[in-house]
Amino acid sequence: MAISDKQKQIISLLADGQFHSGTELSDVLGVSRSAIWKQSHFLTAVGLPFSAVSGKGYRLERPLELLDRQCIEQSLSAKAKNLISSFEIHQQIDSTNSYLMERAKDGAPSGILCFAEHQSAGKGRRGRQWVSPYGSNIYLSMLWRFQQGPAAISGLSLAIGVAVIRALKQFGVEDLGLKWPNDIYSQGKKLGGILVEVSGETDGPCLAVIGLGLNVFLPEPEAASITQAWTDLSKISGRDDLSRNELAANVLNECLPVIAEFESTGLKAYLDEWRDYDCLKQKAATLYIANQPFDGIVQGIDDNGMLLIERPDGQVQTFASGEVSFNGE
Ligand code: BTN
Repeated sequence: MAISDKQKQIISLLADGQFHSGTELSDVLGVSRSAIWKQSHFLTAVGLPFSAVSGKGYRLERPLELLDRQCIEQSLSAKAKNLISSFEIHQQIDSTNSYLMERAKDGAPSGILCFAEHQSAGKGRRGRQWVSPYGSNIYLSMLWRFQQGPAAISGLSLAIGVAVIRALKQFGVEDLGLKWPNDIYSQGKKLGGILVEVSGETDGPCLAVIGLGLNVFLPEPEAASITQAWTDLSKISGRDDLSRNELAANVLNECLPVIAEFESTGLKAYLDEWRDYDCLKQKAATLYIANQPFDGIVQGIDDNGMLLIERPDGQVQTFASGEVSFNGE
């Protein structure tokens, strides 16, 4: 569902987490108080749990810090700012990645950023859905054009994993890991994921839409459909006052230079750091390629970012793609 301007006003009003009377809300919407009750259900539909208490009014279960362009821009480095050609924050969108892939078809340049408060069809890797309730997390996509072909940027998603870890560390988060190829992990659970979609000719040029989903405050009911073990920053930090705007700026400060310089640095510049955060290394794991399992002990990644698995016969096999499960995941 699309979020109208009036609904956005209601969310802004309720964002403080305090009670607001039906009269206050009906003034904003310009409808009767009984219509407010009916209309309030859009909040549930976009993943904003709320309570309605007679005599007090309506209140969100948790205060919200809405994404704010000015606020994010204030904390951007000069380097990151110079790499941005356009900066969009959408209240609601199907998928920030799909949107930028469409913009790219129309010739959009490098450096377009798209954040969303809510995605109705957020995409994960391998055709999975990315659960994207309103105002809870970071959903970001960045478009970049490269002179060379897709092979030249094959390690980009791993480099972005390193950039996201750097951003999270600056945000005060410890105990972070990377699970090949590009999941952000903490305490054995998934905290975020990266989806890079590439389009272009074999010998170049090509373009990439780099999508990042980071769980900040993921409401339990919304997360019920997630089949993997998951976590979010509020659980890890025990805090409910985390600033998504500050986190968004950190992410851009770290990711944009990595993307812009990747054609000259390659994955090589990020390998040591990636290996420091590798949470699969020396673990017994199974890699699935189209449901076919490959068991073994993970030996880390090679210099091209491929996964190395020591198979039961002692041979080390190299894998370019697939889904790894470990620890009974
Ligand atoms: C994964 O499966 O681990 C990758 C998840 C990527 C999710 C992000 S959210 C922003 C961007 N838009 C999408 O539709 N997906 C990515």
